[in-house]
Amino acid sequence: MTRAVPVTRRSKALSQIGLTERIFTSAEDRATAAAIDAGLTEVEEGILREVAFTDVVANVTSRYLLSAGGKRVRPMLTLLTAQLGDGIVPDVLTAAQAVEITHLASLYHDDVMDDAEQRRGVPTAQAVWGNSVAILTGDLLFARASKLVAVLGERAIRLQAGTFERLVLGQLHEAVGPQPDEDPVEHYLGVLADKTGSLIAAAAQLGVFFSNAPREYEEPVMLFGERIGVAFQLVDDVLDLSPRAEETGKVAGTDLRAGVPTLPLLYLRRQARTDTDAAALLQRIEADLASPDGADLPRAIEALREHEVTSITLAESHRWAEEAVAALAPLPDGTVKRALTRFADVMVERTS
Ligand code: IPE
Ligand code: IPE
Ligand code: MG
Ligand code: MG
Repeated sequence: MTRAVPVTRRSKALSQIGLTERIFTSAEDRATAAAIDAGLTEVEEGILREVAFTDVVANVTSRYLLSAGGKRVRPMLTLLTAQLGDGIVPDVLTAAQAVEITHLASLYHDDVMDDAEQRRGVPTAQAVWGNSVAILTGDLLFARASKLVAVLGERAIRLQAGTFERLVLGQLHEAVGPQPDEDPVEHYLGVLADKTGSLIAAAAQLGVFFSNAPREYEEPVMLFGERIGVAFQLVDDVLDLSPRAEETGKVAGTDLRAGVPTLPLLYLRRQARTDTDAAALLQRIEADLASPDGADLPRAIEALREHEVTSITLAESHRWAEEAVAALAPLPDGTVKRALTRFADVMVERTS
């Protein structure tokens, strides 16, 4: 049985590219909005079909996070860049589904690695069923994504494999941390490009490729995706400090507790070398993280959120978004370019 796709999720996804706003009023804009809206419904139904296992246990665990929510940013990008070519043809839909299932799988694994309590507003899979079930569910989903991509041919298989490799290397480098000769901030930005930028870049590229759009549009949308992925992840670092769990769907300080030195903390460490206030806050955060009950951590997180290193992180995120938009210069002026530009703005302004 397939369920209707919640209309709110679709219109939320569409609003991320501004297509529900008044500045998009031409007939072309309306046609694009309608096509993407219809495409998102098909993607959602397709994902539900793909994430169905004859095994009852696998069925429940793999659909768990899928049904819990999610912004569907990646498939939406695929559907949007496909408008540069023949639009949402069957291979574009398949690619969009494969990208979202890959993302979904990575979330199961990421939550184990980060020891996260909540995802998409619900307890994480490992909080419900334990690490083994969460890891294996992620693996099952990767297998399903690979099966889908196999239908699309060798180029897609190579792209998926290369993207997956970068995503995993990003997670690995984050877990291991910088080498002694590496600058921690440079290392971290590389991690973000790999763990998040790579899949968003692939999502955008696949839309161009499978809609038979001009080949010269692949590079600009890939660069856009990669850079907006970094911007997106930097906002995620700031959201990790947000006390509004009902909005973010996550518990504040999850990254810090997991030992992930997000950009605000890396900047604080850098500033602490010459600034005694920064050094005091850093010491306080480290002590709270080390304390067994962590009772004072929420207040330290609040102080970090209000420290200038957090606004500097947001400014850095805006800079990446501007560079993402700059990469779009070779695209024709029109709905797609404007929607991608709006998407960049929305990503850095997001609160969830
Ligand atoms: C979360 O991605 C993981 C990151 C790479 C930051 P999203 O913010 O796109 O997560 P959902 O799909 O909307 O839950
Ligand atoms: C998630 O990164 C990246 C991948 C899933 C590849 P984070 O760990 O920073 O993202 P959230 O905050 O858990 O969504
Ligand atoms: Mg995480
Ligand atoms: Mg993580």
